[in-house]
Amino acid sequence: MTRPAPVSPAEAVRYLTGITTTGTPHLGNYVGAIRPAVQASRTAGTQNFYFLADYHALIKCDDPARIQRSTLEIAACWLAAGLDPEQVFFYRQSDIPEIPELTWFLTCVCGKGLLNRAHAYKAAVDKNAATGADPDTDVTAGLFMYPVLMAADIILFNAHKVPVGRDQIQHIEMARDMASSFNHLYGAHFTLPEAAVDEWVATLPGLDGRKMSKSYDNTIGLFAPPAQIRKQIAGIVTDSRAPGEPKDTEGSALFQIYQAFATPEETEALRRAYAEGIAWGDAKQLLFERIDREIAPMRERYQSLVDNPAELERILKRGAEKARAIATPFMGRLREAVGLRNLGTQAAGGAKKTEKAALPAFKQYREADGLHYFKLVDTSGRLLLQSRGFESPREAGQAVAALKAQGLPAVAALGPQVERPQDVTENELGMSLSRLMPEA
Ligand code: TRP
Repeated sequence: MTRPAPVSPAEAVRYLTGITTTGTPHLGNYVGAIRPAVQASRTAGTQNFYFLADYHALIKCDDPARIQRSTLEIAACWLAAGLDPEQVFFYRQSDIPEIPELTWFLTCVCGKGLLNRAHAYKAAVDKNAATGADPDTDVTAGLFMYPVLMAADIILFNAHKVPVGRDQIQHIEMARDMASSFNHLYGAHFTLPEAAVDEWVATLPGLDGRKMSKSYDNTIGLFAPPAQIRKQIAGIVTDSRAPGEPKDTEGSALFQIYQAFATPEETEALRRAYAEGIAWGDAKQLLFERIDREIAPMRERYQSLVDNPAELERILKRGAEKARAIATPFMGRLREAVGLRNLGTQAAGGAKKTEKAALPAFKQYREADGLHYFKLVDTSGRLLLQSRGFESPREAGQAVAALKAQGLPAVAALGPQVERPQDVTENELGMSLSRLMPEA
């Protein structure tokens, strides 16, 4: 496994994924989400956030024991599958109080009409309409607010990319809407996130050939005991062709599941075996062995984590600490921006108007090392951009002039000569610089 090359966090592309903590992970989750995400987490130049969306789970599930058990199993699963909590941010949503706090801020800038159009809410309302019931029968405000909580998850960490399935694209668009409404009202605080839909990640068929899904009750457990996995595999639907009769790979759930685990050569070999009339029982045995080969090494780690919840708790708490090192100061700024402020500080007048009028400023200075530096600070003195040392004041001055004239492209052109602090988004820096640009 290659280690990610160290990148300055300011340049990294930030990916963020939430995992709702209901249910026990199955092979479909592994192939469709866990495995690709763990691989992606090792990509150089990225910063990765994975969290257990247990507040979201409460919307769907009111069984406390199941919430707890599922959180434990899913956390153990992701770690057993190779997620390295040292390399990524791995935390539990309910350990980050800034998320519900930001949810409220976004609630106050989110049009109710936007939420009326959310697919999940609309589907629930339509279902009621179809039976003639009151439109909101059995619809909780939690279901209605789901997209706002999800937006807070994402933009609290200024994620650039959110890997999701197609069914979640609308939620990411809604998060963009809320982020830009907030930015419009209070200044450029949030990056606008984008959905990253992986076209080639396989959806795994289940035992009955439909998509493997808990709601179809056609799943194969990921870390179920091998005997149980074997039994589930035996239940995969096949046709009635006898041993010796050639078999179709097309539309064969067994073949597709095998393919999701096998190398191209192994897949080819099974294709030939199908053509040569392998017995279904033998094909199922091959599938069991192939899956077991990938899963067995992880099972031990999974079991040891599940048996040792204190260890998991420690890992998650440490993850929350890392995440909050970003979230807490950022939330402080957001509180300030909306006017939840220390009453002793100078009231910023009609707030918005004056803040918008005051401009960020470049400061040039010389350090004890004899080099010439500059930095860009906003009106409250917060650092937005820091330069490295230049030999002459003229070089530093030229860089400042380029930044004032061109904005963000000049940041890119200056490369390592300037650095954007971790808590400043590219978006925000761009907006600040654009305010310094000469009027067109
Ligand atoms: N809604 C997502 C799902 O059902 C889970 C989720 C919650 C999420 N918050 C998120 C996904 C933030 C991505 C980003 O799959």
